[in-house]
Amino acid sequence: MKNLLTFFLLVSACSLSQGQDLITNTYQRPSTDLNGPWKYIVDPYENGFYNYRYEPFENQSNPGNGAFFTNAKPQSKSDLIEYNFDLMDNIKVPGDWNTQKEKLFYYEGSIWYKRSFDYQKKSQDNRVFLHFGGVNYKADVYLNGKKLGQHLGGFTPFQFEVSEHLKQKDNFLILKVDNQRKKEGVPTLNTDWWNYGGITRDVKLIETPDTYIKTYRLALSKTKKNHIEGELFLEGSQRANQAVHIQIPELKIDQRFKTDGNGKLVFSLKPRRLSTWLPENPKLYTIKISTEGDSIEEEMGFRTIETQGADILLNGKSIFLKGISIHEESPYSGGRSTTIEDAERLLSWAKELGCNYVRLAHYPHNEHMVRVADRMGLLVWEEIPVYWTIDWSNPSTYQNAQNQLGEMLQRDYNRASVIIWSMANETPNSPARNTFLNKLASFTKATDPNRLISAALEQQSISDDGFTRTISDPFAEVVDLLSFNQYIGWYDGPIEKCRQIQWDIPQDKPVIISEFGAGAKYGLRGSKEERWTEDYQAYLYEETLKMLNKIEQFRGVSPWILVDFRSPRRVLAEIQDNYNRKGLISEKGEKKKAFYILQEFYKTKSY
Ligand code: GCU
Repeated sequence: MKNLLTFFLLVSACSLSQGQDLITNTYQRPSTDLNGPWKYIVDPYENGFYNYRYEPFENQSNPGNGAFFTNAKPQSKSDLIEYNFDLMDNIKVPGDWNTQKEKLFYYEGSIWYKRSFDYQKKSQDNRVFLHFGGVNYKADVYLNGKKLGQHLGGFTPFQFEVSEHLKQKDNFLILKVDNQRKKEGVPTLNTDWWNYGGITRDVKLIETPDTYIKTYRLALSKTKKNHIEGELFLEGSQRANQAVHIQIPELKIDQRFKTDGNGKLVFSLKPRRLSTWLPENPKLYTIKISTEGDSIEEEMGFRTIETQGADILLNGKSIFLKGISIHEESPYSGGRSTTIEDAERLLSWAKELGCNYVRLAHYPHNEHMVRVADRMGLLVWEEIPVYWTIDWSNPSTYQNAQNQLGEMLQRDYNRASVIIWSMANETPNSPARNTFLNKLASFTKATDPNRLISAALEQQSISDDGFTRTISDPFAEVVDLLSFNQYIGWYDGPIEKCRQIQWDIPQDKPVIISEFGAGAKYGLRGSKEERWTEDYQAYLYEETLKMLNKIEQFRGVSPWILVDFRSPRRVLAEIQDNYNRKGLISEKGEKKKAFYILQEFYKTKSY
């Protein structure tokens, strides 16, 4: 249990710089949503943030009429104000700006968002929190002209308490959203996906009593068989020695507890006949937690995940992870995916493939994805965008990565489907990088001992002829699952090379191939030697799967990738046209020949 306390203390500390630590399960808490049309101003020179001497207006006692976040209005006919949100066009929240406005398709810079709203608290003593599901990439948040704070990171939730800043009428909420890529960013300057900017996830207000259920987590104990262990924190003036009622009706759990002097409760539940969560039976239970003034419900599954030598044990039984990698793009319409329907469509395609597992690349996806995975019975690998050449020696870059990791852990703690936290993707081995990743791994293990950690590493040749491959990355000794990307037959020789490769992997750990694949333009047919044809892609899948099946510790694979996705790196006219074409399905939802090759392979793989 001490790990749980570590978790909440660590994450509280690390995320305070970006807003408070998160309220658990905002997904199911009653809320007022601030989605819909917002006004926006494109501000490439950040003219609404800095004065002409490039000093931030917010650092000045009187920012004057130049600062966009004051939403200034002329007080007389002679007043000079050079902006007016009310005269601007609307943009939809949630959603990226690139695919909503043609002029913003390639835009990287700052855009100001503004919306007004009235708010009537249900009770004067209640508290109100402003919650963002995700804003890419840097958000400066102002309410009624007051700076609430800043958040870095485009894919994790953050929130601010606004109890004291709200008015009953005409509140104005303004954000400056900046999606410029930075060397010190997470991710850094170069990625192979589209830099969709904007308020790309839900915005909502959550009202709670003065003393409320702030964080809680439950998990099936790995040591005490058939026991659910949990921890809960109340926040507020009445948090100490407060009654807490926990019910799981279907498990005949109906227990009453009291918090300690700090509002903390550590509990253990002994259910009768609990059905563990697993892909072919993703059993979810309704959990009800209530205190004197607050109550919350959540749908949760219970399972254990661990490794034993080269085996992955789900509820003590060895499994093979039949996966696929997925980027967070909306099927058919493109752009950042924001809806539950999108999540259901993408994960249904994964189920149709025969998957029991998905790798959500290369950043935490919206919460719909993990909630739908819980429901549909898909195990999940989640990762933060520590991708390629991160600024390893920069302390603020590390803190940013840890904040994003902490926010991902806090949001998805109670999701049975999530079994793997991944620290990184294809990062070059160096002492600074190893220090950075080892710290992230320690932070993750200290805050969540109930899941497995991994990273998509790279493989190396250890023979003169280049045919003997291994993983000589020091981080391979740290992870629970040895995962790596390999592209033999696409970036690395002809497809026939698959037949010559010997994998020499000494680690007694489960091996997951986190990526392999080939590009194909849907509908382009030809010989299996002809690059970009569906036939080449299908042949590479056939040969790769045969090669990987020879690896003794082979326990999972997530080929790259379910659907063609946008990338500024992919400019080959008539074939790529700004799409990475390694999808098994085109961006129009058309299934390529390789889709069926993988589907057949998964039929041969025992559960
Ligand atoms: C890399 C990387 C992916 C990228 C893929 C590709 O492995 O992890 O993000 O899209 O290769 O080159 O298609």
